Amino acid sequence: MRISLRQLSVFLSVARHQSYTRAAEELNLTQPAVFTQVKQLEESLGVPLLDRIGKRMQPTEAGQVVVEGARETLDAVGRMEMRLADMRGLREGRLTLAIVSTAQYFLPRLLGQFCDANPGIEVALTVTNRQAVLARLAAGEDDLCILGTPPEGLDVVAAAIADNPLVIIARPDHPLASETEIPPERVAEEAFILRERGSGTRLAVERFFRARGLTLPVRMELGSNEAIKQAVIGGLGLAALSRDTLALEGAVGIVRVLDVAGFPLLRQWQAAYPRGKHLSVAAEAFLDHLAAHARDAVRDSGRVLPGRTGAAMAGSEGPLRET
Ligand code: PGA
Repeated sequence: MRISLRQLSVFLSVARHQSYTRAAEELNLTQPAVFTQVKQLEESLGVPLLDRIGKRMQPTEAGQVVVEGARETLDAVGRMEMRLADMRGLREGRLTLAIVSTAQYFLPRLLGQFCDANPGIEVALTVTNRQAVLARLAAGEDDLCILGTPPEGLDVVAAAIADNPLVIIARPDHPLASETEIPPERVAEEAFILRERGSGTRLAVERFFRARGLTLPVRMELGSNEAIKQAVIGGLGLAALSRDTLALEGAVGIVRVLDVAGFPLLRQWQAAYPRGKHLSVAAEAFLDHLAAHARDAVRDSGRVLPGRTGAAMAGSEGPLRET
């Protein structure tokens, strides 16, 4: 039997997303390349592994067995690599991270510093939304995950590493841009551009308004913070975004942070990993790096904003290690 680790990890991704297309996005492959890997795996094993049910690709009974086997195999290989890397210390090693898309405004900066200091560490970074990061965290696929708020319902170790305030933005010529202490009820009368379902930003803002009995009128859903800013600049409505996304647009004054009562919503960036997971030397070192530098990196990424920025925000730091 000729099955490869690559085929197993591609199959796992398809099974997790129940989609060739989304697996291809996650793995940075073309959809046909993903399809071919799964087909070859099916041919080697001699059983169909996926059923198409509507738009979803669901593992067959045999596929479920392969999902479990693939997880065990990849975990075992990961543990072996980790032990070897630990033997070599930080001279060589691999660090796998999954981060929510909003963290891309500060995390790469931290990674850059870390990689400069540890040139032997190879980093694999997955950037996706909260829902997908939570699925990866539950499956223990990465050394560390970075999320905008603590993960719920999972047995993980999570620690706050920096502030993650959420603000409401508008074009500077919007009638609300010059008002102060705008009631949430007034904001909820405006057309909103929201992130896609599964986004942590969306979850947080919807919760805030729902807790006040309000529903945001959604004019448009967009899958990226950058697209949302362009839509706001284009005059399509208001949006809620993490303040970290706004450094450039805020600095040149093409978006304005509104002074909405209750905002900024104070949240904390979290670094998380499954409880009981053995952290590699590289992951431990990166956690230390986050604890020491994440606050500065986040502060630098959110600088120079006109309008209300929620200057004083309380920070709380939890333990970064399982004790
Ligand atoms: P998101 O998460 O990129 O999935 O919206 C960010 C956050 O929760 O702050």
